[in-house]
Amino acid sequence: MNGEYCAMVGTSVSMADLSMYAHLSGQLDRLCEVVGFDGSDGRHLRLLRGLLGTQGEKSLTTPPEFPSNVADDTTPIEFSVAFDTTGECVVRVLGETVGSRSPREFLDEVAGEYGLVTDRLDAVADLFLPHEERQGPFTLWYSLIFRPGRAPKIKVYLNPQISGPAMADSLVNEGLRRLNIAEAYDPMIEHALRRGERDNFSFFALDLDDDPLARVKVYVSHEAADSADAELAAGLVPGTDPLLIREFLAVLGGGKGPFEQRPLVSSYSFVEGSGARPANYSVYLPIRSYVPDDEVASARARAVLAQYGFDGTKLDKALAAVSQRPLSAGVGLIAHVSLRMGEFGSGITVYLSSEAYQVLPARKRPVLGAVSCLR
Ligand code: TRP
Repeated sequence: MNGEYCAMVGTSVSMADLSMYAHLSGQLDRLCEVVGFDGSDGRHLRLLRGLLGTQGEKSLTTPPEFPSNVADDTTPIEFSVAFDTTGECVVRVLGETVGSRSPREFLDEVAGEYGLVTDRLDAVADLFLPHEERQGPFTLWYSLIFRPGRAPKIKVYLNPQISGPAMADSLVNEGLRRLNIAEAYDPMIEHALRRGERDNFSFFALDLDDDPLARVKVYVSHEAADSADAELAAGLVPGTDPLLIREFLAVLGGGKGPFEQRPLVSSYSFVEGSGARPANYSVYLPIRSYVPDDEVASARARAVLAQYGFDGTKLDKALAAVSQRPLSAGVGLIAHVSLRMGEFGSGITVYLSSEAYQVLPARKRPVLGAVSCLR
């Protein structure tokens, strides 16, 4: 890590005595303010506290007892800010309940207050939640969604790999059948899982409300894929423009790929009963693996936001809401950037790490003209 930054941390009000909840709730409060979500009733913070449970009270100086895969530094929370072409900006919290609780406990705690409809989750629970306790890299993740002017929403992520890679395809196939979209399966395989073991179902997500547009979302991770693979995957969804994907990956990821560090991810959104064709496609680039530091990541993210006419100063404010360190002093504050397109709206989402436990060190930037300098 950059020496200057270490010195700064040493002299500032140190994070040392903060609890996980104290750290994350400050970040969430500030993010809500950036997008204009009115948090005066404190519901956003109560949800966060509930999600973290007793782990939230643990000091950040004690090593994580239950390392989570939600974020690289094992914090069980990741934030995101979604820019939508409607002009709306939404804050979301991806999180895992860690510790001794069973993964569904949080859901049972908040289901009443938020009027959650768990029918769809119940219909697939025996497939994706075969055990009471947490298994493997993840069992059940939550998303808390804070849209200005609306009540918070909650969504769940299930793990198609929960019973091993050999079972993933059949779990997704059966899950879709139970949700009345069996026809959706084959076209996804044809478009997004064409490369054998390198393309894998990685998340199966459900909205937990009774909105007629409540969605089922299926994610595919593409190991060592290039832009053309994502363009083909997008081709399943009417109205997607492959050129926009190519540009997005070129600007953010520095080229056409192949993206050989962390995988590109595709997702398809379905409305129940809508038939085989998903209504939306998103591509996610884990940008932190393709930039030396967050200053470069934020410049690239600003460039794609500008391309779509989004307000880049909001990104700066969001970054300032989660971190005070110099952007060049680490990498991974911006974890992913995604582009979504289709009937359910289009936009860009920037995923922000809380860096509660750790800032990952910046890598060296490439040096221009290094050879000629030696002469
Ligand atoms: N940290 C994990 C990863 O990078 C899971 C994850 C968190 C993720 N946010 C995500 C995956 C957004 C894809 C998109 O893979």
